[in-house]
Amino acid sequence: MTLDKKQHFCILPWVHLHISQNGRISPCCNNNRHLGNVQEQSIKDIWSNKKFEALREQFKNNIADKRCNHCYNIEKSGKQSLRQISNQKYSKDLVRVEDNNPEPIYLDIRFSNICNFKCKTCWHGNSSAWYEEGSKRNASNERIIKAFTTNFEELFEYIDDVEEIYFAGGEPLIMEEHYQVLEELEKRELFDIELRYNTNFSNLNFKNKNILKIWKKFKKVHVSASIDASHELGSEIREGFNWEQFINNRKEMLRICPEIYFEIAPTISSLNINTVAELHQELVKLQLLHVDNIYLNILERPQTYNIQELSNEEKCESENTLKEHVNWLQKSNGNDKTIKDFKDIIQYLNLS
Ligand SMILES: C[S@@+](CC[C@H](N)C(=O)[O-])C[C@H]1O[C@@H](n2cnc3c(N)ncnc32)[C@H](O)[C@@H]1O
Ligand code: SF4
Repeated sequence: MTLDKKQHFCILPWVHLHISQNGRISPCCNNNRHLGNVQEQSIKDIWSNKKFEALREQFKNNIADKRCNHCYNIEKSGKQSLRQISNQKYSKDLVRVEDNNPEPIYLDIRFSNICNFKCKTCWHGNSSAWYEEGSKRNASNERIIKAFTTNFEELFEYIDDVEEIYFAGGEPLIMEEHYQVLEELEKRELFDIELRYNTNFSNLNFKNKNILKIWKKFKKVHVSASIDASHELGSEIREGFNWEQFINNRKEMLRICPEIYFEIAPTISSLNINTVAELHQELVKLQLLHVDNIYLNILERPQTYNIQELSNEEKCESENTLKEHVNWLQKSNGNDKTIKDFKDIIQYLNLS
């Protein structure tokens, strides 16, 4: 099978298991099509049910899914979508499509919404700290939302063949289930599995465990630390964030496991558009970050924080700050991708 002209095909339903905080299985974190719920059925039954099969058949025939618009829109803007990244990364598994042999080898399981931060841009579904506001809107009556209420161990039936696990949350580094998975991987000596994280990087210790010492045992760990601004502004945007703690944790990481990939992942909103350059430069100058280790996550919702909502005057000011940063990146040997990512923010800013 080749991917030529397969502009709607996505490999994920053959290789990927995504479970949300409420137990719902959907094709990926960008597509909320309901394929089943682990609180009602086993993973095994959902993985081979009619809804999953229908989705696979649809993609096999290159038929678009309207819930994939997030990816299709990213592609139109010239950036790489999760669909494209996954098709490339798992091209070796295209044979699974031909042989009708799906297998969950890439896991993204949001075990719960437990979180110690209350970031302005976040909500109760992702953070237990947003419970009061969430319950006012009847989002849920529970502070802690958990994906697995009973059959958590079923996950381990797949673990021997897994190649990649992505942990987000809530906050994975304070999540019991995240450590249970790592413990199982250690017990089975599955150190080749790639571990990827989105974390607020505030807690490196949980109960008697130190995450740095655990990461050291694995061959490939990718840490994306969410930070939106430095110093006080950082704490204003992300309630719970502490700049000194972030710096100390990064230094500790460099001391214990310097070989592990570390990047920052600021969420670009009207709250930090004018200061993200400052944050980037400060961390690079402190020698705590490689200039290219940055992932820019553009906020779309809530609309009030979307940078496209800024006035023309504010947009002009932000554009100038970002252009100056692009100049700094060029002088600091930033690579083409890093420079393009910042230019893309300017383009997004001026789209409406
Ligand atoms: C929901 S968090 C979960 C993982 C972890 N607690 C963290 O903060 O990295 C995942 C990512 O989404 C980002 N985020 C928060 N609010 C967002 C929003 N409204 N739109 C897009 N991304 C957002 C966070 O900054 C973080 O990088
Ligand atoms: S740390 Fe992550 S999950 Fe927690 S409130 Fe912030 S963005 Fe949401």
